[in-house]
Amino acid sequence: MKLPPFFEENRIAVDAALDRLLPAETTQPPSIHTAMRYSVFAGGKRIRPILCVEAARIFSSDVTPALHPACALEFIHTYSLIHDDLPALDNDDLRRGKPTCHKKFGEALAILAGDGLLTLAFETIGATPVPAERSAAILTEVAGAAGTVKGMVGGQVADIEAERKPVDAKMLEYIHRSKTAALIRASVTSGALCAGAGLDDVARLRRFGETIGWAFQVTDDILDVEESSAALGKTAGKDLAQQKATYPAVYGLERSHQIANELATKAIAELSPYADRASRLRQIAEFLVLRRT
Ligand code: IPE
Ligand code: IPE
Ligand code: MG
Ligand code: MG
Ligand code: MG
Repeated sequence: MKLPPFFEENRIAVDAALDRLLPAETTQPPSIHTAMRYSVFAGGKRIRPILCVEAARIFSSDVTPALHPACALEFIHTYSLIHDDLPALDNDDLRRGKPTCHKKFGEALAILAGDGLLTLAFETIGATPVPAERSAAILTEVAGAAGTVKGMVGGQVADIEAERKPVDAKMLEYIHRSKTAALIRASVTSGALCAGAGLDDVARLRRFGETIGWAFQVTDDILDVEESSAALGKTAGKDLAQQKATYPAVYGLERSHQIANELATKAIAELSPYADRASRLRQIAEFLVLRRT
């Protein structure tokens, strides 16, 4: 599908901010900074930072401060991919169209590059040019979403522990909401918080983000079955080979498409009070389930 021009505009702004915030390759010790930069700039759709910036735009015309949490979310997301690909987890060789971080730099540096990106994310949020109570609220939101209690790390644990086992609908929902929807939810809420949104708006956008994030992982599972490694830039067909707990495995492909669409419709309905102010967020939500990559 054809992306609206604001995607590309945001991507350019986000990439420039990522470049400013990441230590130069020559910074001591150069090996880890080279590895961190390699994985961040290997490619990537930048969905989380774009959601963050566009959530901020609903509440403020100046979205520059939101580039801080936006980049922090991309750092955490990239760290989660580096660790997800490690031999001890999904054991993948290809990511964002390139050899995975551990294939290129070895396991020790890949683990440490992930740790470095996670830490840099919190430093980046702390430096957001907004009043301290806003950056503190963003820190709480993002830390929770990255963590073990209904957050990304907890979801990754449940994901690997569910391999080769029968999984029920409730556990499948837990895995997807934790490993993926939580960070996507935090991308949306941190943008809103950065731009001064009030409690009711943050609660509404939390529901939007969680639901579209859930649809996003259902779509990721579908694409693993339907697309090629070349189209995805990562190894296709791996979920079946590793007997992962996925929507296609539990519900079949056709029903999985329906579920992704139903979740996207439910998410988009949360945006109705914002009318035209949320038209970009709506377009992103539609893209997240229609995408082929
Ligand atoms: C892939 O995320 C991992 C999941 C959480 C499903 P993306 O599809 O956003 O990956 P990039 O950032 O574009 O590489
Ligand atoms: C990854 O889920 C979720 C993360 C927290 C990284 P997957 O294992 O399905 O992601 P891909 O398909 O390798 O990108
Ligand atoms: Mg995984
Ligand atoms: Mg994986
Ligand atoms: Mg996947």
